[in-house]
Amino acid sequence: MNESLEKEGEKPPSHNAPRKPWFVAVLANIKGEKSELPPDVPADALADYDHIETIQAIQAAIETDGHKTVFIPADRNLPYTLQEIKPEICFNMAEGLGGDAREAQVPALLEMLRIPYTGSRVMANAISLDKTLTKRIWRDRRLPVAPFQEFIIGDESLRPELRFPLFVKPAREGTGMGVDAKAVVANEAELRERVKYILAVYKQPALVETFLSGREFTVGLIGRWDSKKYSRHPEWYDEKHGYHVFPALELDSSRSVTPGVYSNAAKSKEVGEDGAPGYTCPADIKPELARKLQHLAVRAHMAIKAIDVSRTDIRLNAEGEPMLIELNSLPGLTPGYSDLCLEAQAEGIAYQDLILDILYLGASRWGMVEARELSPPVKSSVAARTK
Ligand SMILES: Nc1ncnc2c1ncn2[C@@H]1O[C@H](COP(=O)(O)OP(=O)(O)OP(=O)(O)O)[C@@H](O)[C@H]1O
Ligand SMILES: [Mg+2]
Repeated sequence: MNESLEKEGEKPPSHNAPRKPWFVAVLANIKGEKSELPPDVPADALADYDHIETIQAIQAAIETDGHKTVFIPADRNLPYTLQEIKPEICFNMAEGLGGDAREAQVPALLEMLRIPYTGSRVMANAISLDKTLTKRIWRDRRLPVAPFQEFIIGDESLRPELRFPLFVKPAREGTGMGVDAKAVVANEAELRERVKYILAVYKQPALVETFLSGREFTVGLIGRWDSKKYSRHPEWYDEKHGYHVFPALELDSSRSVTPGVYSNAAKSKEVGEDGAPGYTCPADIKPELARKLQHLAVRAHMAIKAIDVSRTDIRLNAEGEPMLIELNSLPGLTPGYSDLCLEAQAEGIAYQDLILDILYLGASRWGMVEARELSPPVKSSVAARTK
């Protein structure tokens, strides 16, 4: 039993709890921070930012394990605030402030200041923000991706393997930014117009892909090869690869505000609200497809060297084959709302346990969690769940 926690009257810690509670800073960008951005940003520029209630939910979850928490806005003062507040570890939710690898900015700063943090490191956060680079890496590993082409100038000639209808989106955004019903283009004129719009408004390359007309899924995972040693729930993790892959969640956009497209407008609706897509988890699909989607999510995560948590978006093509769309190395964590949280909920995993495992896995990378003895081996529960 951890003495310091016992004295403070906290509930008994899990058996691999740290010797003393940690001082954890949750780093995030909160909606309303527009002054930090250049004046000419698009209307959906803050879509990736978190609501303060999400940050409070993360803090509350961490505090249930006896730790102290503080929220630090990931603004331009962050380098100074961190050195003043001196957290022992950061729970990273920061989106970064512009540039071609904004989601990697805060991890880079934390590496520089040698402050432990959760989730993916610099390189994976930079790569996953860039959908073109991500797809090039996946294609190199022979993972299934729809044919694609990046437009930087706007009048590049269209490669012959790209047949209409096509899908056009900003190469480096999230939360459906720059994605609406007009993202699907049926001919050359519509393509040129949309590419020019993305280049002008989002000031970044436009990624043009074959339109994937089938069903849409998203698959979250947590863990890594040695998660069983450090997790509060070693029984969650697969014996072989060490991940816990959540059941696929299906997004049914057919009746949403943007039929067929999981757009920024659709993502902004509450679950169950008029105009919101349908969310089904576990997706109503054959076990073989469910296994395939989960396998692809693991391969996609490993290929770009994401760490501890991610969510991969997948859509079926016209032939019904799953194609990887993108990977989110900083997935949303709003309880009862974000896709990853809905997936955990569908399995009966409590929000606080999800958050604490992400924290423990992160902390273990800096030697803050004692390794658990691994014998006898715990049998995987992932395989059983997907049957
Ligand atoms: N090639 C495609 N074919 C059909 N639909 C697509 C394609 N690419 C993207 N979409 C649609 O656009 C949505 C948003 O695209 P994508 O997942 O790449 O962007 P995002 O804004 O980064 O998403 P997230 O909120 O998950 O970060 C997808 O969920 C899907 O509905
Ligand atoms: Mg997506």
